[in-house]
Amino acid sequence: MNNENIIEIHKLKKSYDKGKIKALNGIDLEIKKGEFVSIIGPSGSGKSTLLNMLGALDTADEGTINVAGVDLTKSRDLSQFRSKEIGFVFQLHNLIPNLTVLENVQIPMLETHLSSEKREERAMELLKSVQLEDKVNQRPTKLSGGQRQRVAIARALVNHPSIVLADEPTGSLDSKTGDIILDLLKDLHKKENVTLVMVTHEPYVANLAERSITVKDGKIIEEKINT
Ligand SMILES: Nc1ncnc2c1ncn2[C@@H]1O[C@H](COP(=O)(O)OP(=O)(O)O)[C@@H](O)[C@H]1O
Ligand SMILES: [Mg+2]
Repeated sequence: MNNENIIEIHKLKKSYDKGKIKALNGIDLEIKKGEFVSIIGPSGSGKSTLLNMLGALDTADEGTINVAGVDLTKSRDLSQFRSKEIGFVFQLHNLIPNLTVLENVQIPMLETHLSSEKREERAMELLKSVQLEDKVNQRPTKLSGGQRQRVAIARALVNHPSIVLADEPTGSLDSKTGDIILDLLKDLHKKENVTLVMVTHEPYVANLAERSITVKDGKIIEEKINT
C-alpha cells in the first residue's frame, strides 16, 4: 500500500440477491490521506454500496479493500475499526430523539476510555464549530433539518476519525440549508484534517470536492480533478 493512500480498493465486486443484482462490478480506487473526494452517479449505480464498504458496514464478494491500514476483507474486529477510524453522515441524520444534542454527539465516544469531562469538552468543541452551542441541551426533535444535520456532523467528527463518509448529506434539505451544510463539511475537512468521501447525485455538489468519481452500473466511468 502506497503510504499517501488512506484508501485502496482493487477489483471490488459486490452483488445482492444471490448474484442477480451486481451492485459493484469491479471497482479500482485510491484516495489520498486528507483528500476530499465526491462519488457521483445516478440512483442505483452503487454509490451507497461503495461507501458502506469503505466504512465496513458491508463486506465484499471479491477484490481487496484496504482502509486506514486495515485489510477489511481479513479483519475480524470491524466494529473497533469503525469507531476508531470512521465518521458517518447519512441523508437522514439518525439522531436519537430522547437524548439531548450534547448526549447525541458523545455517543461515538462512549466506547473510548475518555473521562466524562473530556468527552463533554470535545463534544462542546465540535458543537461550537457547527454553531450550535446554544442548542446543546435541546432534543433533536426541537431542531430544524439543517441543525440536525449539523449535530450529525459534529457526532461524526467527535472521535477524531481519519475518514468521514457522507452519503447524500444534503439530500433531505432545501438548497440554501444544503449549501450551509456543504460549506461546513468543507471547512471541517480542513480544520479537523480528515479525509472526506461524499456521495451525491448532484453535479454542482460533486464539484465542491477536490476530485470527483463518476459511478455507473457499479463501475467507475470517469474521474476528474475539480478546479
Ligand atoms: N441490501 C440490498 N439488498 C438488495 N439489493 C440492494 C441492497 N442494497 C443495494 N441494492 C441494489 O444494489 C444496487 C446499487 O444500490 P446503491 O448502492 O444503493 O445505489 P445508489 O446509492 O447509487 O443509489 C441497486 O440496484 C440496489 O437496488
Ligand atoms: Mg444511495
